[in-house]
Amino acid sequence: MEEPAPHSPVLLDEVLKGLNPQPGQRLIDGTIGAGGHAQAILKATAPNGQVLGLDADPSALDIARQRLAPYGDRISLVNANFVQLAAVARDYDFLPVQGILLDLGLSSMQLNAVERGFSFQSEGPLDMRYDPSGTSTAADLVNNLSQSDLADLLYQFGEERRSRAIARAIVAARPLHSTRELANLVSRAVGSRQKAKIHPATRTFQALRIAVNDELERLSKVLPKAVTLLSPGGRLAVISFHSLEDRTVKDFFKRESKDCICPPEQPICTCDHRATLHIITQKPVTASEQEISLNPRARSAKLRVAEYTES
Ligand SMILES: C[S@@+](CC[C@H](N)C(=O)[O-])C[C@H]1O[C@@H](n2cnc3c(N)ncnc32)[C@H](O)[C@@H]1O
Repeated sequence: MEEPAPHSPVLLDEVLKGLNPQPGQRLIDGTIGAGGHAQAILKATAPNGQVLGLDADPSALDIARQRLAPYGDRISLVNANFVQLAAVARDYDFLPVQGILLDLGLSSMQLNAVERGFSFQSEGPLDMRYDPSGTSTAADLVNNLSQSDLADLLYQFGEERRSRAIARAIVAARPLHSTRELANLVSRAVGSRQKAKIHPATRTFQALRIAVNDELERLSKVLPKAVTLLSPGGRLAVISFHSLEDRTVKDFFKRESKDCICPPEQPICTCDHRATLHIITQKPVTASEQEISLNPRARSAKLRVAEYTES
């Protein structure tokens, strides 16, 4: 019998449909986490398909390693940020590939590990790094940024409308050390509106996590690299969990599916751009009510899939 998984992979059937892995194929999972998606891909590519799995967090790899041990040398696991995807694939002689999955953000294990500082619902240090050897923590940002830089960060990465009030309150109260301290401070600064669907600190925590892990910049960098690793007909599937990520993926897919990206008012094309992607999911795929009831994390998940076409 299989062990119960610590993290439920979201949109699992939809990811399999989108990537369409076949026996003997080679695929990359750039965010292996607890290995749920990877396990399904290994089953679909049996008996000799291969998966290369990356994660920035060494503790995620420990879990994936245990879970995927039965697949022997069909799975290779690497502690690396997915911006290094191309270099890792080259090092492992793992090119080209028929599919790449990026399941963005954090896992339930990371959220539930209080010492990682991702959750505003428990008392932990203000850390939020996926990679514990990363240079700056959430505490470094809240305690050292200027009030206006802090407000900009909360607005840009959290789409937090009360960013200025929160930044002012943070600067007045620092140094801050714990997640609870920050969550309580934000609640006081914005006041809790009874009708609000989310905790008042949700956007602040999202913004800090994105900044600590440079998430949007790394996503923008990995997408074009990922396309270069695909064989013709190979597919790139990305699951995002908030609008900033989804917009980045959507805009990239749209741009790379066009033969010309000149401004519309320009009469003659001068860009020489050629489409390299065919969009498979015209609209993002979202989770069914049934999946959401079993796994509330799936509520905000959006899957987009595109196929590499030779220009
Ligand atoms: C949502 S979880 C993935 C869950 C996985 N699909 C599963 O089925 O268990 C996201 C994982 O991606 C990792 N991660 C986030 N950003 C990353 C990045 N830029 N490079 C590598 N890993 C990253 C996190 O550490 C986390 O383990």
